[in-house]
Amino acid sequence: MKAWRISSFGLENLEFATLPDPKPGRGEVLVKVHAASLNYRDLMIVLGKYNPRMHLPRIPCSDGAGEIVAVGEGVTRVAAGDRVAGIFMQNWIDGDADAHRIRGALGGDIDGMLAEYVVLREEGVVPVPNHLSMEEAATLPCAAVTAWNAVVHAGRVKAGDVVLTQGTGGVSIFALQFARMLGARVLGMSSSDQKLARLQQLGLDAGINYRSTPEWDAWVMDQTGGRGADLVVEVGGAGTFSRSLRSLRIGGTVAQIGVLAQSAEGLEIPLILHRQVHLRGIYVGSRAHFEEMNRAVTQARLKPLIDEVFTLDKTPDALRKMHAGEHFGKLVIRCVV
Ligand SMILES: NC(=O)c1ccc[n+]([C@@H]2O[C@H](COP(=O)([O-])OP(=O)(O)OC[C@H]3O[C@@H](n4cnc5c(N)ncnc54)[C@H](OP(=O)(O)O)[C@@H]3O)[C@@H](O)[C@H]2O)c1
Repeated sequence: MKAWRISSFGLENLEFATLPDPKPGRGEVLVKVHAASLNYRDLMIVLGKYNPRMHLPRIPCSDGAGEIVAVGEGVTRVAAGDRVAGIFMQNWIDGDADAHRIRGALGGDIDGMLAEYVVLREEGVVPVPNHLSMEEAATLPCAAVTAWNAVVHAGRVKAGDVVLTQGTGGVSIFALQFARMLGARVLGMSSSDQKLARLQQLGLDAGINYRSTPEWDAWVMDQTGGRGADLVVEVGGAGTFSRSLRSLRIGGTVAQIGVLAQSAEGLEIPLILHRQVHLRGIYVGSRAHFEEMNRAVTQARLKPLIDEVFTLDKTPDALRKMHAGEHFGKLVIRCVV
């Protein structure tokens, strides 16, 4: 089979390898991967910036969906013909995270989905919603589950709440979609006016260009009559965190997800206590979160927003597009011809 493999870090070193077809052992399933999708993490991993000590060679990409084409001895949970996606952390099935459960991340701790076939444990897959194509289903495991966890579990968003999303990447667009599904008012920001206009077509209530208006925290306060947002879905990290705190209502929540922007400024600790901030770190979610989200996605017939679909051999072009920040929503790789 064909698979992309990191043998040494760097986009130019990514290797389009021919590997033996994998076979499922006891309790395992063989998935013919129809599509994979990219997350910012996959780019960082390829560049060696996520975990420079990662064991190589490694097949990258946490996210993919496909059809089970063979099952190993003893498999009862799923069957050949099922349409499934892999879960991000293969060990985190249910309950709270712990040191064991957050191991086994696809495309990091173990080989990922950027291949024609993968073998996963039967516990490590979920059925995908019927109304989604394989390309759409491939966008769910990391970005969508993370956004779901932030909006539903960390933020406990309800109708009428104000949610602030940042940028127009995978996590942020799913967060917008889920927050709207729950009846929240969503404020958003982007470096591009064109992207903001597209967010508005997806239901964004109001948006601001964070390049031309770096004081977006004051804008959020204006938009909310001085109250502030109930939830900030924080993907910027150090470069946005202080303004996120200043955008928040007293007693509001920051769901801390990303590390996109750097800053030399110190952390404003007093803001955290004066605003009585609930600060919650998010690391994707469990299989139970994924299944719960799929029920909501099915009920709402929600469609993930795909920017572009690339063929497997064009994977480096997709990674380059992500690196340039040119995308809006998800970049998908079709793994079947
Ligand atoms: N903790 C977790 O479990 C988890 C899970 C998934 C992702 N993440 C992290 O979350 C972040 C987003 O991931 P992703 O896959 O959604 O990335 P992505 O698809 O590459 O989206 C990134 C987008 O963020 C926006 N952005 C960049 N710098 C910004 C800034 N200073 N202020 C506001 N927005 C900014 C840009 O939007 P515009 O082009 O519109 O400006 C960019 O397109 C990454 O740091 C990733 O590692 C964490």
